[in-house]
Amino acid sequence: VPVRRLDHRPPEWRAESVDLTFELGADRTRVTARTVLRRAPEQGPAPVRLDGRDLILESVRADGRALGPEEYERTADALILPPRSGRVEVEVVTLLAPAANTGLTGLYASGGTLLTQCEPEGFRRITYFPDRPDVLAVYTCTLIADENDFPVLLCNGDRRDAGRRADGRHWVTWVDPHPKPSYLFALVAGRLGRLDGGFRTRSGRDVRLRVYAEESALPRCGHALEALRAAMAWDEDRFGLEYDLDTYTLVGVDDFNMGAMENKGLNIFNSLYLQADPETATDKDFAAVETVVAHEYFHNWTGNRVTLRDMFQLSLKEGLAVYRDERFSGDRRSPGVQRVSDVRALRERQFAEDAGPQAHPVRPDEYREISNFYTWTVYKKGSEIIRMLHTFFGEEGFRKGLRHYLSRYDGQAATCEQFVEAVGEANQADLTQFMRWYGQAGTPVLDVTTHHDPEARTYTLVVRQSCPPTPKQPGKEPLHLPLTLALLGPDGRRLPLRTADESAPAGTERVCELREPVTTLTFADLPERPVPSLLRGFSAPVRLRVPLSTEDRLLLAAHDDDPFVRSESLHDCLVELLLERYHAGAAQGAAVPYPPLPAALTGALAGLLGEDGTDPALAALMLELPGFGTLSGSLDEVDPVRLATVLHGTRAELARVLRAPLLACHRRLDDGRPYVFAAADAGRRALRNTSLAYLAELTDPEVREVLHRQYATADNMTDRLAALTALADHADADEVLEEFGHRWRDRPLVLDKWFNVHALSRRPDTLARVRSLTGHPAYSDANPNRVGALVIAFCFDNPLRFHAADGSGYAFAAEQILRIDALNPQAAARLAGCLGGRGKLDPARREIILRTLRSLRKTDGLSPETSEILDNETTA
Ligand code: ARG
Ligand code: ZN
Repeated sequence: VPVRRLDHRPPEWRAESVDLTFELGADRTRVTARTVLRRAPEQGPAPVRLDGRDLILESVRADGRALGPEEYERTADALILPPRSGRVEVEVVTLLAPAANTGLTGLYASGGTLLTQCEPEGFRRITYFPDRPDVLAVYTCTLIADENDFPVLLCNGDRRDAGRRADGRHWVTWVDPHPKPSYLFALVAGRLGRLDGGFRTRSGRDVRLRVYAEESALPRCGHALEALRAAMAWDEDRFGLEYDLDTYTLVGVDDFNMGAMENKGLNIFNSLYLQADPETATDKDFAAVETVVAHEYFHNWTGNRVTLRDMFQLSLKEGLAVYRDERFSGDRRSPGVQRVSDVRALRERQFAEDAGPQAHPVRPDEYREISNFYTWTVYKKGSEIIRMLHTFFGEEGFRKGLRHYLSRYDGQAATCEQFVEAVGEANQADLTQFMRWYGQAGTPVLDVTTHHDPEARTYTLVVRQSCPPTPKQPGKEPLHLPLTLALLGPDGRRLPLRTADESAPAGTERVCELREPVTTLTFADLPERPVPSLLRGFSAPVRLRVPLSTEDRLLLAAHDDDPFVRSESLHDCLVELLLERYHAGAAQGAAVPYPPLPAALTGALAGLLGEDGTDPALAALMLELPGFGTLSGSLDEVDPVRLATVLHGTRAELARVLRAPLLACHRRLDDGRPYVFAAADAGRRALRNTSLAYLAELTDPEVREVLHRQYATADNMTDRLAALTALADHADADEVLEEFGHRWRDRPLVLDKWFNVHALSRRPDTLARVRSLTGHPAYSDANPNRVGALVIAFCFDNPLRFHAADGSGYAFAAEQILRIDALNPQAAARLAGCLGGRGKLDPARREIILRTLRSLRKTDGLSPETSEILDNETTA
């Protein structure tokens, strides 16, 4: 049965304090949980219902008295004590087997380390407790363990006391003074090394910063520590928000279902996001570490100090934390480049999700498994909603709004509308209509038509908004959104803006607020037809359709000072070209039967490869061809193999036409300086390796020599992996692939890159190779990173081979979903999403997929997580 948002009721019992004792062992752990629960006397008596899943119960006490089994009720997901009122102290003793817990939720083992993951509903797998985010309590926790196996014992908050027992075990007690919901509880016990640092807050608190990881990984953790310091300083500078405990700890583990987790004062990371050094991490990895470390830190205010009333409000913390990490990452390097790459990712993934069978509102109305809602929509579209508020109110207004929200709800559990209302209140704005963004699924479309009247010297834009139907939401209401625009003259400069009812021009950029299905905007004093620069900065998460000529687009691409519109305009030219070719019916194989590429377009691309003054990081993004997800989003029906073939064919043709500028760019940007992860250097490497990726399409000896030389001489993983990827699909690649696999055989995180290169290969035997790699000694079904690098990558990011017409890719996915589901339902559910949600496939493939899904759905013992996804896929 689904849980519904509108069924929310305040908790019958509030927890005041929780006192936990863990007697830790990998095979057996005993948990004693003593919880003081309270209920206002005037509320009368109510049963005490505590959530719990798959627990072995040793004993229950109420106010110190042991209860017999006849004095409580146990169901599959609860322990219920008979009605009472006032205050009660419940003590529950449960037994866990962490080493056998492969689902990576609750208390589990990663290597020799024991740790917890409680969000969203893992605490109920540790003990019986009101496991809902609006029950906030103060936690005290004592960890007892063998000192040899578990010398490090960590928990939330500050360390209060420690000692050694007669039986040789040691113990540590931690106290977290900040009331928190159970999903923010965490512990770590293991043999880990430590890196120390410090940070003094603005108001003078000296915070101990600590990073724990396997001893051998510590030399690679310095970057994360630096990122943490930068994030702490940034949140003070931007929003005046300071850290609130004396210790802040990051821990890296190898088995983790997502990126990281913001447990109060004790963030736990997938080691992929905690480790980086030049030899083994790419520029993208370095940047991802910064982003994830900052994201978890930002949750300390937006998520922890102010938490969620219920799990439907997930985007209240996730959208906000993503918004904050995107801004932080932009400030670290280039806001414009960051924006362009964030939008690309949103469009490639979130738009596809929003158009498929898994489409759901940023704040869902119902769910069966909340763990299935850690989605692109909740995270990234959620962030776009926050960004629109920033666009409406500006930096100062937004800051005021955020601070107002935080001070009003500090220490409480809040909702999305409380956030939006607080921001509106701080800015004297009514955001009632704006709230629809949280409830309405689907990507809105803006259709714009333009008209220039030379006589009246006016320029008119008519903007129509609409939103396609999504599952359970056939009709949609108009949204309130900001459309940021400018008008450019023939030289590419912004013109002064004056609407018909204004007496004088004001500024050269406007945020127009749209609320109606149709909005007409008229600008005056325009004798010449201007070129419109629309949706600047991607001011709203919509599809914009505006019929501009290629000339106008290329003018914007060359001259607009808004990096998003610049890159978007070139991107649109490429989308148009690729779709035209797709419809023309590309022949498979190497020969491309198209007329030559438009010279103006190849000229623009050549300009980016030369020294035209564009930031190399932006040029690299602009040179990238539109992604498969973005292209299929513009089609009513997709033959994925044909689309992938058009993409590859066009890339190869561009490589032939641009061979000389590509080689020149690659040579020019080789400055021979040692690797540093710094914005400018990373930008040059990105452009250089984008050139390399195009050159990979060519087979002449000079180019092959360039690729092989880069592989052999690279002093860093960014350049080495770029070369490996560029080489991988050719006959002469076996040697380098083998070399890479051998060199990194003992470093799983690096080997994941190698698995990934195989998964994304265009070689015809790719599926066979992927299948055989699932038997590689370093591969494991139980590790989400391995599964992500090989199996999920093949299914999501290799449309050419995954969508093979014989259905072999789908059969492979089904087989993997079953294997993984038996171990880790969350990972299996993620994989199950790959069988749908990818635009509208041609009828033949849809038929095979549906058959595959239906037979999968009939399997006995399928997890609720995977079942929910499969049901969405088969009923939509
Ligand atoms: N709240 C985490 C974040 O910062 C993600 C939740 C982790 N969930 C999990 N099942 N591992 O985005
Ligand atoms: Zn988060």
